[in-house]
Amino acid sequence: MLKQISDIVLEAGEIVKTGFNSNKNIKYKGEVDLVTEYDVKTEEFLKEKLQKLFPDFKIIGEESNNDTNEYPNENVIFIDPIDGTTNFVHGVPFVAVSVGVITEKEGKYGVVYNPILDELYSAETGMGAYCNGTQIKVSSTPSLINSLIATGFPYKKDNLPYLMKVLEQVLLHSRGIRRAGAASLDLCYTARGIYDLYYETRLKPWDMAGGLIIVREAGGIVTKLDGRYHEMDSDSLIASNGLLHVEFLNLLNEI
Ligand code: IPD
Ligand code: CA
Ligand code: CA
Repeated sequence: MLKQISDIVLEAGEIVKTGFNSNKNIKYKGEVDLVTEYDVKTEEFLKEKLQKLFPDFKIIGEESNNDTNEYPNENVIFIDPIDGTTNFVHGVPFVAVSVGVITEKEGKYGVVYNPILDELYSAETGMGAYCNGTQIKVSSTPSLINSLIATGFPYKKDNLPYLMKVLEQVLLHSRGIRRAGAASLDLCYTARGIYDLYYETRLKPWDMAGGLIIVREAGGIVTKLDGRYHEMDSDSLIASNGLLHVEFLNLLNEI
């Protein structure tokens, strides 16, 4: 099954790659929240193919279901056709197609593909995580001051004062911070041990569903910002190599 999902995601990646190298028709979902015809086209392609593979699953995609805040208990597939749309529009090669297959509220399969860098990340529960066929593991960095931390910022800026305080503390207590602009890839880079820890608020299930399984299968830990277990409808997350988690939570508690 993972191979079949990966093949569909690879094909979807070709649509994204074509769009990356073409002129794009851009629309605004919000003041800075963009969407292009390639987001829509890729999502339609994925929905059709995945529904055939998983006829009993509900499929939720960012571009066709983004007004829903209710996430079903049933078997569900979350699709982000282009994670990193701002990067896509500006030509930054950090974009991905992300698919997460969830059964009984837990991740079963996760596939994230960056078609520009040709990196395919995939995981199945209990079977480990892979990048282009090679098994990946989280880092073994034991302390924040030696770690590279990733984050992202929401389109909606209502919790900006808090996020700025967190940013200041992270800058003071780590080796550095990156904001690359695609949540699914931030998760995969954490799974791969490139980033030691990634945190973000106000995420949607389609941003996280694919990458979450990949981080956990690479030996990482994912919780909400308050340290509790991360579920698919949680909107904040900390994904880490496990070793840094308590130190990071303590840092947040001091703010
Ligand atoms: C966004 C990206 C970004 C994150 C935003 C997401 P989109 O997704 O993952 O890194 O900071 O919160 O909404 O809009 O490019 O699919
Ligand atoms: Ca996204
Ligand atoms: Ca998107």
